[in-house]
Amino acid sequence: MKVAVIGTGYVGLTTAVSLAMNGHQVTGIDLDASKVEKLRQGISPIYEPGLDEALKKVLDDGALAFYTDLTEAKDAEIFFICVGTPEAVDGTADLTYLLGAVSDIGKVHSLAPQERIVVIKSTVPVGTGEKVAGMLAGCQGVSVASNPEFLREGSALIDALEPSRIVIGVDNPQAAARMEELYNGVKAPRVITNRANAELIKYASNAFLATRISFMNELARLSTALGTDIVTIARGMGLDSRIGPQFLRAGVGYGGSCFPKDTIALLQLAAEHNIHLSILDKVREVNATQPAWFLEQLCLQLPDLKGKQIAVLGLTFKPDTDDIREAPSLKLIEELLQKGASVKAFDPIGVSGVSKQFPQITYTQSAAEACEGAHAAILVTEWEQCVQLDWKQVYQSMAQPLLVDGRNAWPHQEVKEAGFHYIGVGRS
Ligand code: UDX
Repeated sequence: MKVAVIGTGYVGLTTAVSLAMNGHQVTGIDLDASKVEKLRQGISPIYEPGLDEALKKVLDDGALAFYTDLTEAKDAEIFFICVGTPEAVDGTADLTYLLGAVSDIGKVHSLAPQERIVVIKSTVPVGTGEKVAGMLAGCQGVSVASNPEFLREGSALIDALEPSRIVIGVDNPQAAARMEELYNGVKAPRVITNRANAELIKYASNAFLATRISFMNELARLSTALGTDIVTIARGMGLDSRIGPQFLRAGVGYGGSCFPKDTIALLQLAAEHNIHLSILDKVREVNATQPAWFLEQLCLQLPDLKGKQIAVLGLTFKPDTDDIREAPSLKLIEELLQKGASVKAFDPIGVSGVSKQFPQITYTQSAAEACEGAHAAILVTEWEQCVQLDWKQVYQSMAQPLLVDGRNAWPHQEVKEAGFHYIGVGRS
């Protein structure tokens, strides 16, 4: 099918590449001319495993092309809207880019009217699909669908090619059939429903995952007080098939572009309908206080951080991405500096963003180098390069052998044997 994808960020680019890999003829549209120029050369503006190679392949095959002007895609049967819906000042989702894209589609449609579907992939408040349908009501033959994405950064391409489910919200069976045709061959359960349900499925999924994490983080605080082990507890819980093992890892809190933004947007949406989502409110509160709780654990061992050197290992909000949005590392570095510590940080690819915010700290070429002379090392992101270290060598190089593991990812038995004092999140 002929498909246009508007917006070439994480979601748009991954969607465009995966659709092209699945045999569709795809046109990627972005307003940013320099980005389009790079994409045409096969250079992805984001780091995402496998994406560069896949992008080059579909460009070479002629299955994907990029433009700044939407009229280049005037023959498209399907228009995907994948633009950002950032958090507005009041916490609601800002729909400026999305509504701009809808109005552009309306203009293009009038140049070349035909049966087509406008698909909203961006995460939007319930009712947005309805609003967009209203805006396009004068466009003969145009249907509006909601088709939320569930892509995890770091494995976005695999998630797009092998999704856990495909959720399609439509208001007519013809549009449902066309969307089924688009995903023909992709093995995944389908949920075909109305637009509002599809929109809420997205927010509810992210809010629930965030809830699991905050639940475990709060439980980890109790586990620390009791001297129990949260990793063993999570395993024991996760073996219950009703609970399942995923998203039970306690740590320094969730970050990224989705959970923080989507949880506040859902709270706001509910508030507009006079519903207080009290559990979600607490989820956010636990997440906001988790970095400070984590630093308290460090301070129990090093009460005065003034003049102490701390190694911060991992800066991105999770491994395998260059994304530092809402990364717990940012809060932790700020707190450490406020307490008078000096910081040496390492991340395989996340340094450039963080160094703009914190030019005063030292960035090293390796995790081991960050630990040299440190009074403590904290693990913030479980990159392999931060987890697999020569512990005996690191032990020799540190001023004080203290490891505080914010992801429960260091081999605690091995590091204890190497002589370290090891503290995890909720670990005995
Ligand atoms: C998330 C959703 O998983 C995805 O479906 C959605 O479409 C976009 O938002 P993403 O933000 O890329 O994806 O990352 P994810 O793997 O979900 O992790 C989010 C945060 O939670 C990270 O900071 C991660 O470190 C943290 N996390 C995750 C935990 O602290 N514990 C866990 O058990 C799992």
